This record gives sequence, C-alpha cells and structure tokens, in this order.
Amino acid sequence: MMITDIFIRLFEKDPTVKRHLLKTVSWRIVGSIDTVLLGWLITGKIGVGAKIGGLELFTKMVLYFLHERAWHRINFGIPTRNKIAEKVRQANALNLFKHTGKVSRLQREEKNRQKAFTIWLTGLSASGKSSIAEELDKWFFENGYSSYVIDGDNTRLGINSDLSFTKEDRSENIRRVAEICKLFNDSGTIVIASFISPFEEDRNRAATIIGIDSVIETFVDASLETCKVRDVKGLYKLAAEGKLKNFTGVDSPYERPSAPAIHLHTDSKSVKKCADEIIGYLKSRAIISVSSGMLIPEISE
Ligand code: ADX
Repeated sequence: MMITDIFIRLFEKDPTVKRHLLKTVSWRIVGSIDTVLLGWLITGKIGVGAKIGGLELFTKMVLYFLHERAWHRINFGIPTRNKIAEKVRQANALNLFKHTGKVSRLQREEKNRQKAFTIWLTGLSASGKSSIAEELDKWFFENGYSSYVIDGDNTRLGINSDLSFTKEDRSENIRRVAEICKLFNDSGTIVIASFISPFEEDRNRAATIIGIDSVIETFVDASLETCKVRDVKGLYKLAAEGKLKNFTGVDSPYERPSAPAIHLHTDSKSVKKCADEIIGYLKSRAIISVSSGMLIPEISE
C-alpha cells in the first residue's frame, strides 16, 4: 500500500486528521521563520538561526501534530450541545411569539371523537416496543381512532438523523420527539411513541413537554438475556464484538422506570396480550371507550 493510500484512508476515517496536518505545516512555516529571525537577532549570524530552524523543523512538526491530536480527544472548554442550544433559546425567546390559532385542541378532539394522548413505550432494544406499537396502532385504526406511531428507528432516519447514541444526543433525541408527540396530541391525534429512552431524566422531561396528564408511561420489560437471544437486528452481536459503541444494555445503561403507569412483561406475554393490556388500561380509566365496535366520545374539559 502506498503512503498516499494510507493518508487517503486516514482522511476518510477522520477528516480532522487532514486539518491537523495542514495546521502543522502552516504553523511550522510561521514558527520556523520566527526561530530563524530570533537566532539571527540574538547571535548576529543568520546561519545559526537557519540551523536551529532547520533542526526543529521535524521535531516540532511531530510534537505539534501529536499535541493537536491529543487535544482533539479532550472535551475541556468545548461548549456542549445543550449549552449552545440554551444560548440560542435565550436569544430567540425575545423575538418569538406563540400563536394559539382559532381551533383549540379540545375542538379537534371533539371532531375526532377521541381524547388525544401519548402512550410512551420505553424499554431495551428488542424488548418488543415496535411490535406492540404496531399492534396497538392497528387496533386504534380498526376501531375508528386516529393514531400514529412515532418510533426511534424511523425518526433517527429522518428528523433526528444528525443524532448519535451518546447520552447528550439521546437526550436531544427524546426532547425533539416529545415536542413532536405534543404537536400530534395538539392536533387531536393519539400517539404511540416507541423509544428506548433509557434515562429517567429524559423521560421525565418528555412527560413535561407533552403534558404530564397526556402521557401514559409504559415499560416494555424484557430481560437483557431475552433481548440478546431475540437480537432481531443483530445489534447485540455487533455490540458484544465491540463493533457498535454505546449500545443500551451493553456499554450504555438503561434506567428502569420506577413507577410506570403500565408494566408489560414481554418475556412471558405475546404482543397481542400486551396490546390488549394497554387497551384494557385505557378503557378502565375511560380514556377510550368502545362499545360494540362503535366509538363513544370520552372528552373531559
Ligand atoms: S434512544 O436511546 O435515543 O431512545 P431510539 O429509540 O431513538 O434510542 O433508537 C433506538 C434504535 O436505534 C434501536 O432500535 C436500534 O435499532 C438502533 N441503534 C443503533 N445504535 C444503537 C445504540 N448504540 N444503542 C441503542 N440502539 C441503537
């Protein structure tokens, strides 16, 4: 393999290497001119300055490059996404004005003959969230409700495609989808949100954004062992081999909900039974009401 190929591969893998190499060269030109001039000024001989400048050319280039790469790995002094966002938020707050519109959420709910709320499914990857969400959505559809599934894989392929799986990016992922759930609920639509949402703080923030009374936290609980055996997408295998970083349950934590409204044990229950359990919960609290397949409005002021 040619040396240029090695660099091309390096640049493709991490474009910042190119930047650091160019910085090394440009700084060396400036630095060496400075050294030559200083050597000349102090000794009165340009040859001495040139010798020192020449000698340090290589050593200082190597040191500078390594120093840059080392700092590149240290986050110290770099503002976090949250900090930057907070500054932008504060600046924007002065110039943004909320519109309420002429049609209220309640009017939309009445038109749709349903209460709008969000079923928030949380659980490990492969715990069964998406299957339950789809089953529930089908039931809503067949029984005359307007519902929609918002799930992690889909939103991460679209609106959240710029987010990774670091703690900070997961937090932003959940914040954004919570805002989307809120919009759907405001439009009078029932939302089934399916996200690992591993951190309690993020789930709580999501509930605050959507509205505590509009969220039904549902813990889709399957043991890590079961999820690893299912491994529908083959991601647990990749994570175990070290090929996928920050994988929930492997090298990134999952904080179990302390008091979920609904707790589904998908180790032992089928998808259909779990969806039925949620429907039972909604009916028992008169959040929805179905009689002989006909929808009866259940709107509270
Ligand atoms: S969350 O943690 O931010 O809530 P989210 O539910 O949006 O995650 O996305 C999870 C989906 O992303 C999983 O179903 C899985 O297919 C995929 N995924 C890819 N990398 C990871 C990872 N490191 N950890 C968890 N899920 C991952």
